[in-house]
Amino acid sequence: MERIVEHPLLKFERGKKIVFYFEDVQMQAYEGESIAAALHANGVRMLRITPKGSRPQGLFCAIGKCSSCLMEVDGKANVRNHGLLGVQIGG
Ligand code: FES
Repeated sequence: MERIVEHPLLKFERGKKIVFYFEDVQMQAYEGESIAAALHANGVRMLRITPKGSRPQGLFCAIGKCSSCLMEVDGKANVRNHGLLGVQIGG
């Protein structure tokens, strides 16, 4: 897993450890964490394929200004998945 565990200015309060599935693969996250953060921590860098050109897209701005992180989540299309505007896992 790739997560920042210590930072000189920020403190991290993590929820309890939970399990979620991405593309039928079991992954670990912390409750309340964004889907994008959880996927990144589990090594997932490609979030979708563009309909035109079939180009891979990953997290780009992470502040809701682009459409790079749009994904289908639980059958709902075009969901942003980062912390500011996105869906969170669990709680
Ligand atoms: S990465 Fe740009 S809106 Fe999510």
